[in-house]
Formats: sequence, C-alpha cells, structure tokens
Amino acid sequence: MVNASLREERGALWCERLKTQRALLREPLPLVVEGRITRMVGLTLEAVGCQAAIGDRCLVETPQGKLEAEVVGFSGDRTYLMPSGDIRGLVPDARVTPTAHAYAAAVGMGLLGRVIDGTGNPLDGLGPVRTDAVYPLHGKPANPLARRLISEPLDVGVRAINGLLTIGRGQRLGLFAGSGVGKSVLLGMMTRYTDADVVVVGLIGERGREVKEFTDRILGSQSMARAVVVATPADTPPMLRLHGAMLATSIAEYFRDQGLKVLLLMDSLTRFAQAQREVALAIGEPPATRGYPPSVFARLPQLVERAGNGEGEGSITALYTVLAEGDDQQDPIADAARAILDGHIVLSRDIADSGHYPAIDIEASVSRVMGEVASEEHRRQAIRFKQIYSTYRKNRDLISVGAYMRGSDPRIDEAIEMWPRLLRFLQQSNKEQVTMKDCLRALSELTAAPAPEIVATAKPQMKSQVAAPAQAQQPQARARG
Ligand SMILES: Nc1ncnc2c1ncn2[C@@H]1O[C@H](COP(=O)(O)OP(=O)(O)OP(=O)(O)O)[C@@H](O)[C@H]1O
Ligand SMILES: [Mg+2]
Repeated sequence: MVNASLREERGALWCERLKTQRALLREPLPLVVEGRITRMVGLTLEAVGCQAAIGDRCLVETPQGKLEAEVVGFSGDRTYLMPSGDIRGLVPDARVTPTAHAYAAAVGMGLLGRVIDGTGNPLDGLGPVRTDAVYPLHGKPANPLARRLISEPLDVGVRAINGLLTIGRGQRLGLFAGSGVGKSVLLGMMTRYTDADVVVVGLIGERGREVKEFTDRILGSQSMARAVVVATPADTPPMLRLHGAMLATSIAEYFRDQGLKVLLLMDSLTRFAQAQREVALAIGEPPATRGYPPSVFARLPQLVERAGNGEGEGSITALYTVLAEGDDQQDPIADAARAILDGHIVLSRDIADSGHYPAIDIEASVSRVMGEVASEEHRRQAIRFKQIYSTYRKNRDLISVGAYMRGSDPRIDEAIEMWPRLLRFLQQSNKEQVTMKDCLRALSELTAAPAPEIVATAKPQMKSQVAAPAQAQQPQARARG
C-alpha cells in the first residue's frame, strides 16, 4: 500500500517536471553571449564576441556602473553599439552583456503630471513613477485596415485652427515654422485648452532651458495634471533623443489603448531626424540628401505612422513641429514631413514680426481631413473666410499705397471692409481659450453676408486708370489696410 502511494507521488512529481521541461523547450531561455569593447570612434562603440540582434539593449560595464547601448549595426564579427547614456569613464575591453530584449517603455496612469527623460526616469523630483504595463519602444505593427476612420473634430482651443484648419481626432499634422515665431506658445495653448483627455508632450533636441519654461510658465500646474512631458534636450546623446520621441509615442499608445483621446505634441521632428542622422553617419551610412542618410527618411514614417486612430475608441492626434526657415521648400525634412502628414500649419515670420499671434499663415496652411470632420456649413464658411482673406492679401500693396479706387471691385471693397474683423478673428492671446462652439459662432457671424456679385472687370481699377477728369478732381476715399 505504502509502495503504491509512493509510486503515485513520484509519478506526479515526474509529470510535473516533464511539464516544466516541455514549457522550457517551447520558450527556451535566451543564451547570453557576452563580448567586449574593442574600439570607439566618435559615439560608436565596436564590440566583438557578443551575440545580439539589431535593436537589442546591451549593458556595457564602466567603473561608474552600467551604460546602456543599442545594437545599431554589424560587420563580420563586429557589433556596432550606440550608447544612450554618458560614455565618460568607458575603458578598452569593457564587458558587453546583451539583455536579449529590445528597448521597452514602462507606461501607466501614474505618468500623468510627470516630467521624465528618454529612459523614463523622472526629472521632476517627485519620486519614482508608478507604471503598470510595458510597451515596446519601437511600437507594435498595426494593420492599416483595422484603423478607425477620422470622422470627428478635436477642439484645440485656438480659434484660427478650430475654425479654418479643423483638426480631426486621429489626424497627424506638421507645425512648420522658423525659430522664435511662436511654436512653443502655440503648443502650450493647445495643451491647456484642448478637449483631449491626455496630452503627451515630447521635447526632443531643443534647449534644456525650454523644458522648465514649458512646464512651469507655458503649461502651469493645472494643465500638467493631465499631461506627460518627455524631455531629451539637445545635449543628450542622439540615441536618447531618438528614444525620447519613441517613448512619448509609446506613452500616447498606452493612453489610446485605454480608450482615451490623446493629443501628442512633438517638438521637434527635425531634431529627431537630426539625431537619426548623427547615429547613421556615425556607423558609416553614406549621406544622401543634404547630408541626411536614407535611414532618416525611413525613420520618419515609422514614428509618425504610430499616431492616429487605433482599432478601439481611443485616438492619438499628433502635431509635429518642423523647423523650416523662410520659404525653403528644399529642406528635405520639411519635404518628407509634408508627404507623410495629413496637413500642415505654417507659422510665418512676417506675420509674427507684425505682432500678430498666433502667426498662422492661413493661405499656406491646410488640414487635409477638414472635409471629413467639419459640417457642410462650417466648410462653406471657412472657404468664404479664406476667399475674403486672400482677396485682401493679393491686393494689399495696391490698397496700402492708396492706388485702389473703391467701387471698382465689390470683392475688394468687401475685403477692405472686413479686414480688421478677420484679423481680430485670427489673433488670440495665449491667455484666451476659444472653444469650438464659440469659434463656430464667431465664424458664422463673420461670414453671414452673401458674397458680392463678381463684376466683369477681372482686374481692380487703379486711380491712374480712371479717365474722367471731373472724378479725378474729387477727393477719393482712400482705403487703407
Ligand atoms: N499668442 C501669443 N501672444 C503673444 N505673444 C506671443 C504669442 N505667441 C508667441 N508670442 C511671442 O513670441 C515669442 C517666441 O515664442 P516661442 O518661444 O513660442 O517661439 P518658438 O518658435 O518656440 O521659438 P524657438 O524656435 O526658439 O523654440 C514669445 O516669447 C512671445 O513673446
Ligand atoms: Mg520653442
């Protein structure tokens, strides 16, 4: 009897052991083959002996501790690594331990109200960040057919955008501007006034000073409560800047998966591209367009495509700032961004110089999904506004020198009449919030009058062309802009 129960017990034990072994065979533990650093050129580390896949996270031993580095290439038996931390103190023959895992982002509701760096560590001194899930830093592959269509508008609290460049939930836009024309202030206004549930801000490759300015002065404590800021300033290694942009996107993906309306603001996409250029050139990729290697143009859509609508309720509406000085249409990053985004908002230095804020160039900007998210009436009003606006802009020189004679073209007369009201509509102090409802009411009041009849003369009449001498003697009402 005793023997039988012992046999049974042993049998059960063996069954259990075999089950464990079978499970291990199904998911074998990765074999870690360590290596050592043999060379370092610029920022690139060259290692021999280690076995790691592209994108894997490795730990390099330094006297100060462990330095994180990502596998970015290989040649024969040499593996190229790009560090994402401080390389000072690194010595020859340092041990390299592959972790056999790609980089991951720790995400969770505890991120709300926090400022973190590109590795996810807090910068705000508020203690450790509570996270409850791990997302891949490089994103999950998504089926483009499974994405929900963009069909609803997102209120960003800025009148010119809500009214004339309506953004759709899940849209990706570029904010094209030179330096100092009001990008940060506009992003701050959107963060404070949007009706999105969560705002994720990625400050990538900009000045370190701007991080504190953005969180304290532009955002303020109230808006910070529903925001997450990922900051990797210009002095951080290029790999960390790339990771910062990807981490911000992973965090946005997490909130989208919780069914929330997310607004992702990335300042700037150009600095992200420049970080990739630094990495690619360092490992020997040949430069192609204006010093940018081809991998830069592959990286941009990989990042941007992660935003947008998901399969569920949640959405990521993303705005990427792109540095574009003047009218440089040749800038390869601005060009590439224009092609992969669903619209662009252009900030103009001329407009900013005249003290008009936000300095949005309405004629050069377009929201490609406005047709799907705005009502028929709203679209008609926006087109009417733009027509009056461009009529004035086209004839501005003539009007301002007093060469245009009132009455010769009713469209220009109307534009002159309406111009101060159009400017009032477009200008907005950064302290003022304008909801979509208020904006639509203002737009409808502004464009309520029907368009004047178009007269036969295509060109506006100038005073010099007016033949009647009797009329020329009369003092003309001079139109001024
Ligand atoms: N809505 C606004 N109302 C009043 N002033 C504004 C507004 N937007 C911008 N400005 C002015 O423009 C200046 C520059 O703005 P901001 O710092 O946002 O520019 P930027 O494009 O982010 O600059 P950089 O390229 O240096 O980062 C601000 O200091 C402020 O004086
Ligand atoms: Mg700025």
